[in-house]
Amino acid sequence: MAEAGGRSVVEQLFDLRGTRVVVTGAASGIGLAMAEVLAAAGARVVGGDRDGEGLAARMAELEAAGGEAHAVVADVAEAAQVDRLFAAADEHLGGVDVVFANAGIGGGGGYARVVSGRLAELDLATWDRVLQIDLTGVILTMRAAARRMVPQRHGKIVVTASVAGLRAEPMVGYPYVAAKAALVNLVRQAALELAHHQVTVNAIAPGPFKTNIGGRPFDAAAEAVWGGTVPLGRMGTTDELKGLVVLLASPASSYLNGATIPIDGGATVSAPEM
Ligand SMILES: NC(=O)c1ccc[n+]([C@@H]2O[C@H](COP(=O)([O-])OP(=O)(O)OC[C@H]3O[C@@H](n4cnc5c(N)ncnc54)[C@H](O)[C@@H]3O)[C@@H](O)[C@H]2O)c1
Repeated sequence: MAEAGGRSVVEQLFDLRGTRVVVTGAASGIGLAMAEVLAAAGARVVGGDRDGEGLAARMAELEAAGGEAHAVVADVAEAAQVDRLFAAADEHLGGVDVVFANAGIGGGGGYARVVSGRLAELDLATWDRVLQIDLTGVILTMRAAARRMVPQRHGKIVVTASVAGLRAEPMVGYPYVAAKAALVNLVRQAALELAHHQVTVNAIAPGPFKTNIGGRPFDAAAEAVWGGTVPLGRMGTTDELKGLVVLLASPASSYLNGATIPIDGGATVSAPEM
C-alpha cells in the first residue's frame, strides 16, 4: 500500500509520536510496562502512582532511555489527587489524548487459596478498601479523562479490568472479582455515552502476569500455581502486554469501542476447576 511521508502503512497505524498519555499505577508491573512501551514509541507520558519513590525512579529510567516520562504522585482513590494528576498532565503535556486507568490492588486470596477468601469470612474493611481503589479509583480517573476529552472531541480511555471480571476466579477474593466485573460494564456505559464525542473507551482483561500485585514478585511456587490456571501453562510477562498497549493507544484501534479484550493465555476459554 501507499506510503505517506516515507512512512509505511504499519508505521502510520501505530504512530504514537507526540501522543499525550496518562498512565496510573505506572511505578510497577503492568502500568510500568505501559509507560515503557509508550515512551519508547515516542509518546509523551505522565505516570501517576501513590508510590512516589518508585515512580520517580522508574520514570527517570524511561527519560534516561530517551523517552518523555513525568512522575506525578497521586492516589487514585482520592478525587482531589486524581484532579491534581490531570492538572499536572495539562501542565506538562498541554492536554491528554490517551488515558490508561490501570492502578489497582489485589483483593487477597480467593476461597480456593485461603479461609479469608470464603464468602462467610468476608471482611467489610477489605471490601471497602479494594472497591475504593479498584472501582472508585478507576471511575475518578475516567471522569477526569472525560472532562478533557469530551470538549476536545477526541481521546481514548483504556481500563485495566481482569479475567476475574469476566468469570468466577476462585484464586482471588470477592471484592476483586466484584470491582473488575463492574469495570467491564462501566466501560460499556462510558463507551456508549462518549462515542457521541468521538472518545472511545475499552478495557483489557489480563490473566495472571508476573508483577508485584501480591506486594512482592511471584516466587517459583506461586508462578507454578498461577501458571496452572492458564491453558498456555505459564504466567504472562509484562513485555507480552506491550503490543496490545500500542494497539489501544494508536490510530490502529480507532474503531474499537466498548470492548474488553482478554490477554490471558487462553484462561477465559473455559471455567476454572477448583
Ligand atoms: N498482575 C496480574 O496478574 C493482573 C491480572 C489482571 C489485572 N491486573 C490489574 O493490573 C493493574 C496493575 O496491577 P499490577 O499487576 O501491575 O500490580 P503492581 O502492584 O505491580 O502495580 C500496581 C501499581 O499501582 C499502584 N497503585 C496501587 N494502588 C494505587 C492507588 N490507590 N493510587 C495510585 N497508584 C496505586 C502501585 O503502587 C503499583 O505501582 C491492576 O488494576 C490489577 O488489578 C493484574
